[in-house]
Amino acid sequence: MKAIEVSHLTFAYDDTKTTIDDISFSVEEGSYTTIVGHNGSGKSTVAKLLAGLLEKKSGEIKLGGLDLNMKNLTAIRSMIGIVFQNPDNQFIGSTVRDDIAFGLENHCVPQEQMDDIINLNAGKVKMTKYLDQEPTRLSGGQKQRVAIAGVLAMKPKILIFDEATSMLDPQGKDEIKKVITQIHEESSLTILSITHDIDEVANSDAVIAMNNGKIAMAGTPHEVFSDEKKLKEIQLDIPFSMKMQGALKRRGVNVGNHLTMEGLVKELCQYNSNM
Ligand SMILES: Nc1ncnc2c1ncn2[C@@H]1O[C@H](COP(=O)(O)OP(=O)(O)O)[C@@H](O)[C@H]1O
Ligand SMILES: [Mg+2]
Repeated sequence: MKAIEVSHLTFAYDDTKTTIDDISFSVEEGSYTTIVGHNGSGKSTVAKLLAGLLEKKSGEIKLGGLDLNMKNLTAIRSMIGIVFQNPDNQFIGSTVRDDIAFGLENHCVPQEQMDDIINLNAGKVKMTKYLDQEPTRLSGGQKQRVAIAGVLAMKPKILIFDEATSMLDPQGKDEIKKVITQIHEESSLTILSITHDIDEVANSDAVIAMNNGKIAMAGTPHEVFSDEKKLKEIQLDIPFSMKMQGALKRRGVNVGNHLTMEGLVKELCQYNSNM
């Protein structure tokens, strides 16, 4: 079953340029899919089109089998949750609790259910003990975790992260990546993560690479990272482990084709013990 089906989607902000140029792709339900591509390639625009925040020029968008059109707009919007880049732009409440409650209040969730929902979702992102704190006093990573809890509380089917880790320090980045992986493992949510983090891409189920408003490549991380020529064309990097493997291969040491350092280190230990 496909969570997202996009076919021949076209969009322009104005008459001077086609921002999204006839793209087609699909995202498997329950998958963790990453979208990569350099700045200005159209990634955020795609996210906003999917969430019904921008109106397409032509083409089709289907979410959970439902056509995105005016009639279904409310249903579609409640299916999608987005976490944006800047943790400071995502706060409305004066405490973490108020902030997570905000979306629920807008959806008229009864007060007596609210506490349970807030506690459950604060727990999922390990922020339970900060519920009564002011969001301004949290670290970037903690702020993004609260933003994720707020989005999860709305029970979306599709969760979009638009460079949600890019403004965080290394520790914050790790915290958020762990939370995303955990949500993927423990729920049936479909995750779409726009990222420049090559390790995150290596750990995802599927990759979509955008270039200049088009889809340049799509497939598993293995498939995408294997096409070095194409990657160079669109100026995308490969995981460090693959660079190491290439360097070792040129010296006659073949240690396979691992996307993560863990895999490579394991193989190297094996190689060493066999010598
Ligand atoms: N609100 C806007 N109005 C006009 N042009 C925009 C707007 N937002 C983005 N663009 C342009 O659309 C293109 C794609 O932008 P965007 O989707 O933000 O790319 P990405 O997220 O991949 O960096 C860029 O050329 C950008 O300048
Ligand atoms: Mg963007």
